[in-house]
Amino acid sequence: MTAPYFAHPTAVVDAPAQVGAGTKIWHFCHVSAKAKIGARCIFGQNCFVADDVSIGDNVKVQNNVSIYTGTVIEDDVFLGPSCVLTNVSNPRAQVLRHSLYERTLLRRGCSIGANATVVCGVTVGRYAFIAAGAVVTKDVPDYALVMGVPGKQVGYMSRHGYRLTPPGKDGLWHDSVGGYRYKENNGVLSCLDLDEEKPLPATETQGSVSWEEARALRNRR
Ligand SMILES: CC(C)(COP(=O)(O)OP(=O)(O)OC[C@H]1O[C@@H](n2cnc3c(N)ncnc32)[C@H](O)[C@@H]1OP(=O)(O)O)[C@@H](O)C(=O)NCCC(=O)NCCS
Repeated sequence: MTAPYFAHPTAVVDAPAQVGAGTKIWHFCHVSAKAKIGARCIFGQNCFVADDVSIGDNVKVQNNVSIYTGTVIEDDVFLGPSCVLTNVSNPRAQVLRHSLYERTLLRRGCSIGANATVVCGVTVGRYAFIAAGAVVTKDVPDYALVMGVPGKQVGYMSRHGYRLTPPGKDGLWHDSVGGYRYKENNGVLSCLDLDEEKPLPATETQGSVSWEEARALRNRR
């Protein structure tokens, strides 16, 4: 049975697509019959979800995003406006490759910036952050901030979306806004102060520090 969700009258949700409770699907979206969408997600205007796509809970999809077969999206992922996901590396109009769709995995809590492109076959790590307009061609480590064309890692972004300051004497990366500490182990970053599998504490889900203030705090460190 499909849980109660909202779909704007102009949206088309093909039966028997699975859509979780509290999800909102706005104007001119199309969800295909074999798509699976979790609870409390939001799809802005003009989004498409193809067959066999799996989307977790609390995923936020901004306007004009198409999510193609082969894509797996975990909980708490953010897809910026008009970002592009792909599922065939070598498309040709004359050659059918429907059985050869490549997998793209967007792991828990990652963000894809506006107008960024994720070339298929990659995994974007947990809480990674893809800058606006970047082109992702390789796997992205957890918490990595990737910018440019082709996308290169230029630092790390905190779970709350602030740039981390590089290690000082304590050998740890710091979020100057929240005060959380992150440790790098063999190229894998993890947060020492938060359970990465659990949602953020409710008190930390309302943003209150502007990007400019966050930048000033980071530079002061
Ligand atoms: C990456 C981002 C978080 C900014 O990071 P930042 O560390 O504050 O970057 P700064 O503004 O200090 O810029 C640092 C340098 O990176 C460059 N830069 C910033 N954003 C960039 C981007 N998206 N792509 C390429 N270069 C970028 C700047 O031009 C600057 O270059 P310079 O040192 O040669 O002058 C931001 O630019 C971004 O892309 N955010 C995503 C916005 C988005 O897509 N939102 C969607 C919801 S509306």
